[in-house]
Amino acid sequence: MTTAADTVHPFHQRARALLDGLRDKGEYKHLQTIDGPMGPSVRIVGEDGTARDVLCFCSNNYLGLANHPEVVEAGIEALKQYGSGTASVRFICGTFSPHHQLESRIAEFLGVESSYTFVSCWNASEALFPTLCEPVDAIVSDELNHACIIDSMRLAGTIKKGLRKHIYKNNDLADMEAKLNAARESIGEGGVIWVVTDGVFSMEGSVADLPAMRRLCDDAGALLVVDDSHGTGVLGDTGRGTHEHFGMTGAQIDMFTGTLGKALGGAAGGYIAGPSDAVEMIVQRARPTLFSNALPVSTAASADKAIEILMREPGLVRTLQSNVSYARTKIREAGFEVIESPTAICPIIVGETATAISMSKRLLELGVYVIGFGFPVVPEGEARLRVQISAAHTREHLDGLVDALKKM
Ligand SMILES: Cc1ncc(COP(=O)(O)O)c(C=O)c1O
Repeated sequence: MTTAADTVHPFHQRARALLDGLRDKGEYKHLQTIDGPMGPSVRIVGEDGTARDVLCFCSNNYLGLANHPEVVEAGIEALKQYGSGTASVRFICGTFSPHHQLESRIAEFLGVESSYTFVSCWNASEALFPTLCEPVDAIVSDELNHACIIDSMRLAGTIKKGLRKHIYKNNDLADMEAKLNAARESIGEGGVIWVVTDGVFSMEGSVADLPAMRRLCDDAGALLVVDDSHGTGVLGDTGRGTHEHFGMTGAQIDMFTGTLGKALGGAAGGYIAGPSDAVEMIVQRARPTLFSNALPVSTAASADKAIEILMREPGLVRTLQSNVSYARTKIREAGFEVIESPTAICPIIVGETATAISMSKRLLELGVYVIGFGFPVVPEGEARLRVQISAAHTREHLDGLVDALKKM
């Protein structure tokens, strides 16, 4: 006789079947433990519990600030001065002085009126469209935009019923123009057209053509929103991002979203930056700001210090850019194809997800930590090794990567 204890609930049957399928296909993700700070090399812990140092080429620690002594010290000082938090959302009693300081710093850095921070860029994106869009509006979005933009649009569509969405082919300006025309036709009375793009596409390392997009937006009376999570600290002479790379000012972008979890300290946090009225609407109305706690104060202070360092030492950006061009040349010389771009993301396309995962395992055995990305993060058949470069890498580190690629 079977008892309730013998039967497996349908949910667990489903979950186990999915997980077994991932294991069978070699697509199961293993979360690598790191036992020490993020840097050009990291101490990883193997499955048998032994630790060893490997070169790290999979972090977004583009400027090497994640373990910068001043960034660490700023976080410790904030923790001592303010404790861990206020145990409240911001509009009740959850805002500390370092939050205001960080938000002023971000606005100054980007050359825009105002900014507001969140626990992640994911949260910032989720706040954006559902709050600022109305049912009469339309969003025009690149097909390769980050998942947080896609989900923000989905959520906005659910909350603001009637909101139109038009998706254009990646970086295809003719298609974008066609979708802008369709958006013009589709909006209601008083409707706004929003065009949204990643500044740097996170899986390709390619750059959005912001000047051309600006022109098309101006012609259509549309607003341009840029998620520059991978461009900030990386592109432009002073690391302002993709717009600076093209000689544009921050004010030429209608709204930015970005992360503090990559070049700008590497801990966590995200922001919306742009005109004061838009930011005020976010403060007043966005559900992630009204119903969720602030960025931890220690993280806010660390991120503020990271931006201060970047503004003080733009030479860090030049070191990164020189490393990027050296690494791309050497990877190519080693016989691998890598997309040409000025960004710190160097994807090597290998095809199947299982191939990418097994190549990444082999590289780790050779002492180099690079992650293989497959479906569903990238389309099926386009799995890749994503090599990421940092200002903290020396030429020896970069040569170590290339030697391992050659051996593989
Ligand atoms: C383009 C882009 N936007 C947003 C995010 C999310 O950033 P966060 O970790 O702050 O949520 C990422 C992170 O991978 C990203 O690549």
